[in-house]
Amino acid sequence: MPLVTSKQLLERAAQDHFAVGAFNANNMEQVQAIVEAANEERAPVILQVSQGAIRYAGLDFAAGMVKIAASLASIPVVLHLDHGTDYEQNVRCLHAGFTSLMFDGSKLSFEQNVAITKKISEIAHIVNIPVEAELGRVVQSGDKLTKEQVEALMTDPDEAAEFLRQTGCDSLAVAVGSVHAMLSRDAELEIDRIQRIYEKVRIPLVLHGSSGVRHESIVEAIEHGIAKINVATYLNEAFIEGIKEGFAKHPDSVDPRHSLGVARERVKERVREKIRLFKSAGRISASGGFVDAPKQFRSAHLGGTEE
Ligand code: G3H
Ligand code: ZN
Repeated sequence: MPLVTSKQLLERAAQDHFAVGAFNANNMEQVQAIVEAANEERAPVILQVSQGAIRYAGLDFAAGMVKIAASLASIPVVLHLDHGTDYEQNVRCLHAGFTSLMFDGSKLSFEQNVAITKKISEIAHIVNIPVEAELGRVVQSGDKLTKEQVEALMTDPDEAAEFLRQTGCDSLAVAVGSVHAMLSRDAELEIDRIQRIYEKVRIPLVLHGSSGVRHESIVEAIEHGIAKINVATYLNEAFIEGIKEGFAKHPDSVDPRHSLGVARERVKERVREKIRLFKSAGRISASGGFVDAPKQFRSAHLGGTEE
């Protein structure tokens, strides 16, 4: 299928209480693993590339890989810019065919963040491309901040409402207790804060730094407005473990496929696991549209029977 935008997918997810997985990729094996796993799970998927990934692979190459992977799949695939930190980068991605953008102004003042987000939303909306913004700051695991400092960077519900009014952004990344690039999985989300933000903005909320969050917390967050969940570290970890595993099996091999092939399989397994956790499995029919309600949803909520 050709790429789709994130707008309808995220609104549908927020309405039906599931989340669309937004998986980061840097190379062909990761792109294939993500799209193949989503295709097999019949889940809509967002493939996102960061500015670092664009520097590594090249903008046209990154966009080209995702477009080809999407064309081979029969599920909706979105190509999203993750953490775009300037206007120019967003315009370049718009021109390269991205179907979803992000401006991360979390290190700027409220006013500066509003001004650039608004400018990007205006230009992207001319060609119907949605924009994710960030308010508050999802910190990095290496930031070494005190509990009080992290708390002060969390998203304020009233500010979020004002931010949305002034910018017209389509989805909002919120700082609600997750931390980027954690290797352990014990972060707890402030569900009450998610609920209060969602009540004020009623647009899909985005969870960054999900690799470090407890699974129970993620499930609860989805019930209260989180509709897009970003995953990077958990997949990178699997990729490197796969490389090591492949290398250990074939220590004398000079064929990169021996380790890269295992890495691709390990990433695919983790994408499947996350898609199921996010309740986005089984949402897409064979023809590529949304099914009315997936089997597990029908039986759990509507009293239907498993076929
Ligand atoms: O934008 C990307 C994500 O927020 C990834 O976070 O590396 O902690 O999974 P993570
Ligand atoms: Zn992030």
